[in-house]
Amino acid sequence: MVGTLGPSSSGKYNIHHRRWIPASLLSYRTLFIALWIVGFSSVAIWQRRSAEIVWSSRRGPPKPAPLLRPRAFNLTDFGAVGDGVTLNTVAFEKAVAAISRLRRSGGGQLNVPAGVWLTGPFNLTSHMTLFLEEGAVILGADDEKLWPLMPPLPSYGYGREHKGPRYGSLIHGQNLRDVVLTGHNGTIDGHGEKWWKKFRQKKLHHTRGPLVQIMWSRDIVISNITLRNSPFWTIHPYDCKNVSILGVTILAPVSNAPNTDGIDPDSCQDVIIEDCYICVGDDGIAIKSGWDQYGIAYKRPSTNILIRNVVLRSTVSAGISIGSEMSGGVSNVTVENVLVWDSRRGVRIKTAPGRGGYVRNITYRGIVFHNLRVGIVVKTDYNEHPPDGAFDPRAVPAVESITFSGVHGRGVRVPVRLQGSAEIPVRGLTFRDLAVGLAYKKKHVFQCAFVQGRVLGAVFPAPCANLDLYDERGNLVRPSTTPNITDVDYDI
Ligand SMILES: *[C@@H]1O[C@H](CO)[C@@H](O)[C@H](O)[C@H]1NC(C)=O
Ligand SMILES: *[C@@H]1O[C@H](CO)[C@@H](O)[C@H](O)[C@H]1NC(C)=O
Ligand SMILES: *[C@@H]1O[C@H](CO)[C@@H](O)[C@H](O)[C@H]1NC(C)=O
Ligand SMILES: *[C@@H]1O[C@H](CO)[C@@H](O)[C@H](O)[C@H]1NC(C)=O
Ligand SMILES: *[C@@H]1O[C@H](CO)[C@@H](O)[C@H](O)[C@H]1NC(C)=O
Ligand SMILES: *[C@@H]1O[C@H](CO)[C@@H](O)[C@H](O)[C@H]1NC(C)=O
Ligand SMILES: *[C@@H]1O[C@H](CO)[C@@H](O)[C@H](O)[C@H]1NC(C)=O
Ligand SMILES: *[C@@H]1O[C@H](CO)[C@@H](O)[C@H](O)[C@H]1NC(C)=O
Repeated sequence: MVGTLGPSSSGKYNIHHRRWIPASLLSYRTLFIALWIVGFSSVAIWQRRSAEIVWSSRRGPPKPAPLLRPRAFNLTDFGAVGDGVTLNTVAFEKAVAAISRLRRSGGGQLNVPAGVWLTGPFNLTSHMTLFLEEGAVILGADDEKLWPLMPPLPSYGYGREHKGPRYGSLIHGQNLRDVVLTGHNGTIDGHGEKWWKKFRQKKLHHTRGPLVQIMWSRDIVISNITLRNSPFWTIHPYDCKNVSILGVTILAPVSNAPNTDGIDPDSCQDVIIEDCYICVGDDGIAIKSGWDQYGIAYKRPSTNILIRNVVLRSTVSAGISIGSEMSGGVSNVTVENVLVWDSRRGVRIKTAPGRGGYVRNITYRGIVFHNLRVGIVVKTDYNEHPPDGAFDPRAVPAVESITFSGVHGRGVRVPVRLQGSAEIPVRGLTFRDLAVGLAYKKKHVFQCAFVQGRVLGAVFPAPCANLDLYDERGNLVRPSTTPNITDVDYDI
């Protein structure tokens, strides 16, 4: 009997039981006690082992940085002090200057050791690897006098919050190629609290700066680091090509940290965002391409973007957004194997008359929602326009060819809200294998207006009357006669 009972099915424990416990004493009670002792002591051993692992990872010698370029420097070589108080802007600038001299011989690597390295904004250079060792924290100085002002982004015409110039980013780059920000999970901390507070009190005169902004560049890798408390958007690749963001953790308070988007690919092509964890005060990821007439004139789309294996949380906005600034167009986006949890919205496409451009050929596949207000959202009246009021209301965006397959989850109030309009109808939608459990038992939780598209096979909740119904094999079961019927209720 002993041999078949309990968690201790390994031969070793069974032999011990047989030898040490006389058969006459093998009542259920002694058996229970014996198993309890075995169980308890194995938990104790496990706890001591895991404590040792934690202890050694905190106290043991730090993992050395691998050599990823022909030459590596230590930040301390340039006089930096990692005490959290000394300002190290000059050390970073000297290190970048030293690396910029190596561009013909494969570039250079800057290792940032454990410590808290306070710095004002600085610029990167091409063929550079910034390596944040375990326990390294680059801490942004929050005195705005240290932050240089830059002209507005051409595709926005304005700072997003104020007209005229905007603050640059803490870590910045323009016209670069081959830049890597990586590490043993060291941290870039934007020290955002003061910025957020001043923004709320309307004490800032310029648009806040992102934490990392790389413009007009290519072959960029950001991997295996943590970014937190950005003053504004966290990672902002602008008009870049070939950007990989892998194994990155992005954190900001989920409330009262305004506009702390996680990653905003903006007029970029060939972007991959993979294996990331993002929990922030605004959109987790927001794909953009410029704002109204400025974005239409700049005309640079975001295209060929893959987002895969990502966990997101946003209690203010959405896990993954497209827009609302999308005037250069957004196409060829795949979102795959993504979890959005305890958030306001899951995935959202937002636009408005005046944007122009298009959102087209977007695929969502293998999406899980846990505890959201709204799961899938299309919003076509997101009327935030540049303050000159000069947008062209006849510039209407096209929203079309959007596929959702394998969307599951639970605890969602409104799984689908697709609000097209007479001016901006949503066309070419496909739903397949949607099964999202509801938070409340309500009707009208698959809401539509001016939506044309199809449902393949059974979905839950029952689809709106705007969509054509097909069976699993693609045979038309019931064509919709009412693609424009409006059933959208924001009060649920
Ligand atoms: C960098 O310099 C610091 C201070 O001199 C030193 O403790 C650390 O070991 C150095 N790291 C490397 C990789 O050389
Ligand atoms: C970084 O480079 C840009 C473009 O040349 C410049 O406007 C900005 O002032 C530089 N930032 C710093 C901190 O030097
Ligand atoms: C990196 O650090 C963040 C913040 O401390 C942590 O949440 C995350 O689990 C770490 N990632 C890895 C791979 O250790
Ligand atoms: C993209 O960038 C990576 C990293 O720099 C590089 O290895 C790769 O060759 C680039 N791909 C293309 C197509 O340029
Ligand atoms: C990230 O870290 C993992 C685990 O240490 C490593 O295998 C991987 O090569 C790293 N990836 C990049 C792109 O730095
Ligand atoms: C979308 O991607 C496909 C394949 O990667 C490519 O052939 C097509 O040109 C892309 N479309 C756009 C608009 O970039
Ligand atoms: C749509 O996007 C997918 C994935 O990015 C791509 O494979 C496909 O070729 C694109 N189709 C068109 C018509 O651009
Ligand atoms: C639905 O609205 C679209 C866009 O406004 C329009 O082109 C179409 O004729 C309308 N269809 C019906 C059946 O009313």
